[in-house]
Amino acid sequence: MNPLKVISFLSRACLAVCVFIMLLSPSALSQHALEPDYNEPLRPQVHFSPKKNWTNDPNGLVYFEGEYHLFYQYNPMGDMWGHMSWGHAVSHDLLHWQELPVAIPESGGEMIFTGSVVVDENNTSGLCLDGKPCLVAIFTGHRGSGASQQEVQNIAVSQDRGRSWQLYSENPVLDLKMANFRDPSVSWNRKANAWIMAVALPEEHQVAFYRSPDLKQWTRLSVFGPVGATGGAWECPDLLEVPNRTGNGSMWALKVGLNPGGVQGGSGEQYFLGTFDGVSFLPSQSSSLPRWTDYGKDSYCTISYNNLPKGKSPTLLGWMDNWQYAEKLPTSPWRGQMTLARQISVVQDKAGLSLAQQPVIEPLRMKGEPLAASLASGQDAVSLHKVEAPEEMDLSFKPSNASVFGVRLYSDEEHWVEIAFDRTSGILYTDRTKAGRETVEGFPAKTNAPVSEDRPWDLHLVLDRSSVEVFAQKGTIAMTNLLLPASRWTRIELFRRGGRGAVDVSGTAWPLSSGWSTPSDAH
Ligand code: FRU
Repeated sequence: MNPLKVISFLSRACLAVCVFIMLLSPSALSQHALEPDYNEPLRPQVHFSPKKNWTNDPNGLVYFEGEYHLFYQYNPMGDMWGHMSWGHAVSHDLLHWQELPVAIPESGGEMIFTGSVVVDENNTSGLCLDGKPCLVAIFTGHRGSGASQQEVQNIAVSQDRGRSWQLYSENPVLDLKMANFRDPSVSWNRKANAWIMAVALPEEHQVAFYRSPDLKQWTRLSVFGPVGATGGAWECPDLLEVPNRTGNGSMWALKVGLNPGGVQGGSGEQYFLGTFDGVSFLPSQSSSLPRWTDYGKDSYCTISYNNLPKGKSPTLLGWMDNWQYAEKLPTSPWRGQMTLARQISVVQDKAGLSLAQQPVIEPLRMKGEPLAASLASGQDAVSLHKVEAPEEMDLSFKPSNASVFGVRLYSDEEHWVEIAFDRTSGILYTDRTKAGRETVEGFPAKTNAPVSEDRPWDLHLVLDRSSVEVFAQKGTIAMTNLLLPASRWTRIELFRRGGRGAVDVSGTAWPLSSGWSTPSDAH
């Protein structure tokens, strides 16, 4: 070959190689590696989690013009708590979420804490433009720390379906000059013919109720508490009307988070059933023994959707986490996820009056598979099903005289989770002490809930890559726990300990499609 041609050939070859090397350069590689694909080993498949960075409480849950909005406490700068802003995602079915840009960023040294969003249908605020309904967010503005900490209630308005927000120029709308005064939950109350706010006085273990004609002027109506569990700060109250599934009419439920002091240690939530007459909440049951909305370790700051279509049961969603270890969870590039949305009702039966919860999951079900297994008297365990997350299972047990019976969920032969009824102790439990290889302080736990012999022995499970949500005894018990398996879930077995007679189980398993699978078309 002519030497000139050789040089030109070499330089072209070198150019191609250089371009190739540039494409593979560390920055290009790391950029590619940093783009999350929702397929990391612990990435939830049927629960919302942000693409990257930190999240805690859900905020501003509202249904508007065909979209379920999920705003959430979000740190746009990293995967630890800080710079709190409102992240934003939308969904058509509460399962397929599309993350949108940050909705309300931290500004002027003020963080945007938890709050709610209402649809101002009749422009009561005077903030809606062009004769169209607008969205109004009511949230806590948080400044400073220690002796200089201040919390006030602010509002912001959106004219474009929550995509952009303008802070109200005369904020704050409610200022008690207090360091701790937060998490306003606002909804329209027919009886009062006004907006009603339930807001936490965390250190006093109280919920204060306010009313307003226009979301700007707020008048104090009453306070509730201290009562029930008071072992930590009260946060994230929610007041809602709940239909009675077994009778007629409805009741009012007041739910409040506390941290620490939850039933399983760290954060947890209690509820009261009673009446709300437009001024104050009156519990109709003794409050001496707290009732917990969830008996797992990982359900906090659950709030309900505003403006649901007529006929829809109240629907709530919470942060699937616990302040005890939330900042230490080994997930990356995100940290924090939400529970499934749950429809709630009141059940009244021989065992008494309880809140019942049913997860919204059906739209993700693939073909169901019948399940059945039996343990003869004296037999300890039998294989039930090959399992893969995400998966849903509905199981109904006939336990004869067995003392402990339930399922054991394996990732490998040394690691498993037990979900079982223990009739000797009168409890349902989830034991994750042997579930994973991660040793996060406070994480290993066996969570318990009291059961009733008068309710059926049923278990409804939703298993994701890093959690299991358990609903039992007609949904009157919810138990939500994060899991940190070292490898994928593989199989599930029926097991028993103690007692005589056969143990039978029957039910259905539904493999679930991923909520990330069908991108929603929101824009
Ligand atoms: C509860 C909470 C709220 C507060 C928010 C701050 O998890 O402490 O009381 O508004 O988190 O991120």
